[in-house]
Amino acid sequence: MFDPGKFIEEKVSELKHEIKGKAIIACSGGVDSTVAAVITSKAIGNRLLTVYVNTGFMRKGETETVEKMLKQLGLNYKIVDASNEFFAALNGVVDPERKRKIIGEKFIRVFERTARDFGADYLVQGTIAPDWIESGDRLRDTIKTHHNVGGLPADMKLKLVEPLRDLYKDEVRKVARFLGIEVSERQPFPGPALAIRVIGEATPEAVEIVREACAIVEEEIEKAAASGKMTLPWQYFAVLLPVQSVGVQGDRRAYGRTIAVRAVDSVDAMTATYSKIPHEVLEKISLRIVNEMKDKVNRVVYDITDKPPATIEWE
Ligand code: XMP
Repeated sequence: MFDPGKFIEEKVSELKHEIKGKAIIACSGGVDSTVAAVITSKAIGNRLLTVYVNTGFMRKGETETVEKMLKQLGLNYKIVDASNEFFAALNGVVDPERKRKIIGEKFIRVFERTARDFGADYLVQGTIAPDWIESGDRLRDTIKTHHNVGGLPADMKLKLVEPLRDLYKDEVRKVARFLGIEVSERQPFPGPALAIRVIGEATPEAVEIVREACAIVEEEIEKAAASGKMTLPWQYFAVLLPVQSVGVQGDRRAYGRTIAVRAVDSVDAMTATYSKIPHEVLEKISLRIVNEMKDKVNRVVYDITDKPPATIEWE
């Protein structure tokens, strides 16, 4: 039986020995990186700098929310706005694996810069077991390169510390609850963020569309769950497809883009089943997306595939 209190105690003492000087941690505000930041700061205090990078791929209002949380947790933090750099790096890139690797590498470069300024030698990451299992090793096939694993450049100068690498998601949530971290019940959000929810090139315009669509999916599903119409899925979001289709708006022909809604139930992300969302909720989501993004999106579809054979994200 997993004991979060014992886990924290052991990790804090291990980290005290492992980290000799200063360290930085990449914190996206998600459960994994926030738990890793809080545990590491328990071990080394202000010798840890928690860095939040605004990649331009974050969810609506996310940067503001995360900053508030980092402040509340009493962490020594810095917000770095690197969105122009990330968009430039992804210019013309459509292959999902290349996208993930470019984003991973950019992250590291931004951190290296920040670490140099701070005088850090260590990079702490919130990598958990499914991240590295699915990124492949000698025994396993690469399903997808999770940005915080395969994206690491070979010449990285920082020493890597991964306090959560043996934990599964449900265990990380237990640790978060134990630490009283408010994000403990938040749904997971992938490291490459909205860039992998735009299928094809992640331009600023495309990311803006999927950001709005994700916000609508989250709002409507959370509202429906709160009013007892459905149970809250494990993860729920929107994906922008590189498919245009013919529609009609008023009496005009439209040729807009397509949003896929994805919602799944899972325990540890290794397998998942699609959520049986009531049709009235799906209808509300669809209506809001096409109304609030007139001239951009004119079709909404629901993904009814389990994992396997699909994965949770589309890229
Ligand atoms: P897949 O799509 O592989 O996703 O079924 C499993 C879980 O992992 C999240 N995910 C990521 N998390 N870095 C992360 O930290 C990544 O690169 C990444 N890609 C996917 C995904 O949202 C799901 O919860």
